[in-house]
Amino acid sequence: MVELQNNIFIPRHVAIIMDGNGRWAEERNRPRLFGHKAGVDSVREVVETARTLGVAFLTLYAFSTENWGRPSSEVTGLMGLLKSFLQSELRTMLKNDVRLCCLGQQDRLPTDVQAVLQQTIAETRLCSGMTLNLALNYGGRNELVQAVRNLAEKCQEGALDWQDISEATISDHLFTAGQPDPDLLIRTGGENRLSNFLLWQACYTELYFTELKWPDFKKDQFLEAINIFNRRQRRFGKTGAQVKAE
Ligand code: FPP
Repeated sequence: MVELQNNIFIPRHVAIIMDGNGRWAEERNRPRLFGHKAGVDSVREVVETARTLGVAFLTLYAFSTENWGRPSSEVTGLMGLLKSFLQSELRTMLKNDVRLCCLGQQDRLPTDVQAVLQQTIAETRLCSGMTLNLALNYGGRNELVQAVRNLAEKCQEGALDWQDISEATISDHLFTAGQPDPDLLIRTGGENRLSNFLLWQACYTELYFTELKWPDFKKDQFLEAINIFNRRQRRFGKTGAQVKAE
């Protein structure tokens, strides 16, 4: 059992790339969807752990803009898992005061998934214990394109002066508007890349890569990631001595 170190700092925002479901299943000679189903158990356990620890924002990369290119049976299976997850977890989310948000353009999702998503977002909108962001049909570059279009439109209408566009204005036009940038980004599955996830927001995020595949990533592994995060020194461009003096 992993224990948290003393005087631990709980990151406000943790983002996770849940990779390795397919390979986890293939290692067991099972279809890829079997791995995604096992991944849902890890989602439940990690959401519950994050909530108990007091993480304020948890962002899960559940489906990228690139994932549409997967075999249609896998895409359909993933959409079904998402829908049943939302339906089965609504009561738990309300009980645990968890607000659901969606990062990504929802209009491309199947209409039944959109409906359940909208309902869950509406029913949990006043929950304030933790925000669970599901990145669905999400791509970091697509998010920036949407933000730029939005800003250009406001400038054209005269609602915004182009000279007033700042880093803050751009942040305010992303799907994560009003939320802090992630402190910690975890990627399971042994790949060391961002894969179009939170490209703007991860500017100063601590990255944690593990070989473990997502279905093997549970409470203990999440605690371990937080312990390791706590051993990092975040300098934000300053020197180590400056940070220590703060
Ligand atoms: C990446 O593993 C994982 C995904 C593309 C989907 C993640 C989805 C889940 C964990 C289940 C549904 C989510 C929720 C929130 C209920 P991969 O398939 O790319 O694995 P591989 O690299 O081993 O092929």
